[in-house]
Amino acid sequence: MRLLSILLCLAVTQSWAQFMTKDEYAKMLYQNPRGVGCDQCHGEKGEGMVMSIYIKNGKETELRAPRINNLGLHRFRQAFKHKNRVMPTYSLTDVELAYIYYYLSSFNQNQKGEEK
Ligand code: HEC
Repeated sequence: MRLLSILLCLAVTQSWAQFMTKDEYAKMLYQNPRGVGCDQCHGEKGEGMVMSIYIKNGKETELRAPRINNLGLHRFRQAFKHKNRVMPTYSLTDVELAYIYYYLSSFNQNQKGEEK
């Protein structure tokens, strides 16, 4: 019984590295980046979406998160180097950002995204 629980502990601590594929890990980071999930604002595939609609000077105005599955890596990384107007700050490593970028790029081929 004791041996079993030790084995179980080992399996759990090593689990992601062994049982998660690169694609699954990348998707997990996009949805759960130690903070609000990117998908909550940028959409499931980074296609961009309307976050809310409010009235400004008597006119309906949209607050949107931009499309992010078609950016160059340099521009993508810039968003994490300074404080943005709306987007929260994250403490993601370069490697984690690379995974998220890789995940989003897979939606770039045949997807149009919303009009800006
Ligand atoms: C609360 C909503 C929200 C969340 C959560 C969020 N973003 Fe954003 N993001 C925005 C908005 C809005 C902008 C436009 C800049 C601004 O106004 O803050 C933006 C800008 C960006 C840009 C720059 C786009 C460009 O055209 O240069 C990138 C890249 C980006 N976000 C990636 C991400 C990633 C990756 C995550 C998750 C780690 C994430 N965002 C989480 C709302 C969000």
